[in-house]
Amino acid sequence: MTEPRSDAFVFFGATGDLAHKKIFPALQALVRSGDLDMPIIGMARAGWTLDKLRERARDSLEHNGGVDEDAFAALSAQLRYVDGDYQDPGTYQRLKQALGSATRPLHYLAIPPSMFGAVVRGLADVGCAGDGARIVVEKPFGRDLASALALNRTVHEVFPETSIFRIDHYLGKEAVQNLLYFRFANTFLEPLWNRTYVDSVQITMAEEFGVQGRGSFYEEVGAIRDVVQNHMLQVVALLAMDAPVGQGQGGVRAEKLRLFRAMQPLDPSCVVRGQFRGYRDEKGVAPDSQVETFAAMRLHIDTWRWASVPFHIRAGKCLPVTATEVLVKLKRPPLTVFDAAPAPGADYFRFRLSPQVTISLGARVKQHGDAMLGEQVELIARHEAASGTLPYERLLHDALRGDPALFTSGDSVEAAWRVIDPALTHATPVEIYEPGSWGPAAARRIMAGDHDWHDPKATDTEAADIPSG
Ligand code: BG6
Repeated sequence: MTEPRSDAFVFFGATGDLAHKKIFPALQALVRSGDLDMPIIGMARAGWTLDKLRERARDSLEHNGGVDEDAFAALSAQLRYVDGDYQDPGTYQRLKQALGSATRPLHYLAIPPSMFGAVVRGLADVGCAGDGARIVVEKPFGRDLASALALNRTVHEVFPETSIFRIDHYLGKEAVQNLLYFRFANTFLEPLWNRTYVDSVQITMAEEFGVQGRGSFYEEVGAIRDVVQNHMLQVVALLAMDAPVGQGQGGVRAEKLRLFRAMQPLDPSCVVRGQFRGYRDEKGVAPDSQVETFAAMRLHIDTWRWASVPFHIRAGKCLPVTATEVLVKLKRPPLTVFDAAPAPGADYFRFRLSPQVTISLGARVKQHGDAMLGEQVELIARHEAASGTLPYERLLHDALRGDPALFTSGDSVEAAWRVIDPALTHATPVEIYEPGSWGPAAARRIMAGDHDWHDPKATDTEAADIPSG
């Protein structure tokens, strides 16, 4: 990379939940690897002191991966804290002082999108957004297409597109990058990877837990904005895009954009929204909340490769397991040559994205014995989930170096909102589901033809139970 490295790391939302869960562990890892030898400035309007922020950082590490005493000592020494309201110009004056001689700060906005505009303008007013400064913005980038367009305009008034890094931590995951690698580093897949051989695609992002104290955040977003507009559509894009031209990641971003633009806007009659029983009792949640904690939908992509192949997406909280899995089902053989009733559920690729990382191919093989009867097996490539870099560590490392490859461009984020918008403006009523179930029964309604959902298992040590159809 020839881009100059940032010389200070500023994070807004330093006392928040994301900082506690993901950012401090990433910062410790970056300090340990020597990639963050610069001032680290936490920003918040919480009335805290620097010592309190250090305590919070330690607590974060104790709960998320462990404290490395040497790296933590260095992180604590580099840490600064600026307290203040994001609307108050004085906050940015104090930030400028804290930055000292740094001229190329990376500002990370781990705050609700409604505050992005004020922060961007505040930074510009005190000269903290000049040449060389960068900005990382958290998802969701806006609430819908109109607000994303407005947000892009606001951020572009201050930062050029090359200095804006719209983060989606799914793109920092090994398993998600492996989708791209597996598709385009092998020859055998490409002849199959189209409407002639693929019957349907489904993605399930299931979480066993609820909103974990983030009720007021969740009330503002809901499952569709929280994980479908970004994480799930990114996975669809990587599964469905054409091969990039050239080796640079610029080619990947260009093909993804073409793919987002080829997605049909969601048909509201193909969207089911659910809410787990008990959500309305969570702190910060309205007693009559209509916010969804579960969404299932059918999506279509208007390209020669994918026309009429249904892409089913399902994501939700309080489901039976925590697992994210993609199932690409191939069409059945044209004629039955052997068994009268062939083993169900073979002919598929299954990508387990978390917590384990697995790619498997479901096939039929002959059972031992005289009869030509089949059984289902899986040919599996498995990786250890724990190995590799944390997604936030990887992405912040890239942003500090100005490498945009794993970030979402302004036009892609707008194209993704264009797909999602009808599901928000013509929202279907939420249906209550029991915690521990697979969401409202209506989720089956939106499946095309005789398809059914494949429910991922909690562990990935046995062959998947793939429904026929
Ligand atoms: C976040 C969502 O973006 O992704 C959370 O805000 C969700 O609601 C989380 O739980 C899941 O990501 P991961 O990497 O922990 O599976």
